[in-house]
Amino acid sequence: MPSDLLDRILMNPRVPRHVAIIMDGNGRWARKRGLPRHAGHWEGMNAVREAIEGACATGVEILTLFAFSTENWKRPRSEIDALMRLLQVYAEKEREQLARAGVEARVLGEVERLDPAAREAVRQIENATRGGSVLRLNLMVSYGAREELVRAARSLCEQARNGTLDPESIDEEAFEGALFTSGLPDPDLLIRTSGEFRLSNFLLWQLAYTELYITPSLWPDFTRDDLFAAILDYQQRERRFGRVAAG
Ligand code: FPP
Repeated sequence: MPSDLLDRILMNPRVPRHVAIIMDGNGRWARKRGLPRHAGHWEGMNAVREAIEGACATGVEILTLFAFSTENWKRPRSEIDALMRLLQVYAEKEREQLARAGVEARVLGEVERLDPAAREAVRQIENATRGGSVLRLNLMVSYGAREELVRAARSLCEQARNGTLDPESIDEEAFEGALFTSGLPDPDLLIRTSGEFRLSNFLLWQLAYTELYITPSLWPDFTRDDLFAAILDYQQRERRFGRVAAG
């Protein structure tokens, strides 16, 4: 069912503004082919391209990709090195193309934990793409939602302690402002590949009312048509945000 899917999406004005993706299944993709795990991660880079191009074609404004979790630091050193190198190569190779396409890339998470070469590549991709107005791309790197929430609480406490914030004024908006995703609308749609029904410590605050879509595709096999199928499915959903149905 190729890209008449896109035509069907565009006939409906309800396109998700913000799509988040848990890119899972790189290891299984590689194992099925008798390849080392890092081969799956490298192949996953093509799927990242597909997701970005698909998002731009549909009018999605924000795409948030879970590229490396805080838990991923517990993987073997060789795999961590491969993922760091991949981030660096991705940022170096793609930044001009992203800038031309109007994609503004931001890397969110504990960026200070990345090795110096990866940190420099992050700085460069952010500089090269600043101001892009077609799509905001968030690459979540060394990211864990619980750590993000703890960090936000700590930052608000510090402001209260030094007298710049009245604890009485801490509300949802103030809390949101202390998250990595500060200022962005919550995801409307979360896609997870490889058939797992888990959030895996991803955006626990921001996903409160997000529609979930699980696909059996392994991440390296993910194409823009998989994204289109997820968006079409989203367009059939009724979102109530805890209220009763309209009418
Ligand atoms: C999960 O697969 C995927 C990751 C830990 C890394 C995600 C990275 C990419 C898709 C590479 C491209 C990204 C950018 C933006 C540079 P897994 O290893 O957990 O797979 P498994 O569950 O099958 O073992």
